[in-house]
Amino acid sequence: MKKFALAVSALCLSVSAVAAADDPIAVRKAIMQANAASAGLAGAMMKRELEYNPAIAKAAILTLSASAKSFGDFFPEGSGDGDTTAAPAIWGDAAGFQAALDKYMTDTAAAVEASGKDGPADLAAFQAAIGPVFGNCKSCHENFRVQNN
Ligand code: HEC
Repeated sequence: MKKFALAVSALCLSVSAVAAADDPIAVRKAIMQANAASAGLAGAMMKRELEYNPAIAKAAILTLSASAKSFGDFFPEGSGDGDTTAAPAIWGDAAGFQAALDKYMTDTAAAVEASGKDGPADLAAFQAAIGPVFGNCKSCHENFRVQNN
């Protein structure tokens, strides 16, 4: 239960950090932290460390979907320098980055669609809905993130 409360507050903190910041690097990192919190919640339910809860499952999916829609707005020219792990390919291969964003948006929108009004009915339905979303984390990081940490 403690873990659950921590995960939910991590989600809320990340989202308020997004609202407060005006630095694009800080905003995009905060969006990614919200992703990590959602992925953590989802993983805990899949590993049965956390009892499955359809409303929490849906909140995690909605957070990922919101992140997919906004993330691409925080990469202005020149924001590749500084305290960031964004790879130069984001600007050098803008079409490729856009394609990765588009795929992420498509996959998260499908997960929202599959989760219905009250969230996925059970763990199997949740896994089926969110599974394809997680492939995006790895593929985008491999191509568009510098692995220096
Ligand atoms: C479309 C590309 C893309 C997708 C999809 C994506 N990421 Fe990222 N992620 C990035 C980039 C780019 C950065 C580096 C941001 C920076 O440092 O400016 C990053 C950074 C991060 C960070 C580090 C944030 C920090 O504070 O430095 C975490 C954690 C993270 N991503 C988790 C995830 C998870 C979990 C998913 C899947 C649910 C995901 N990401 C999906 C591109 C992506």
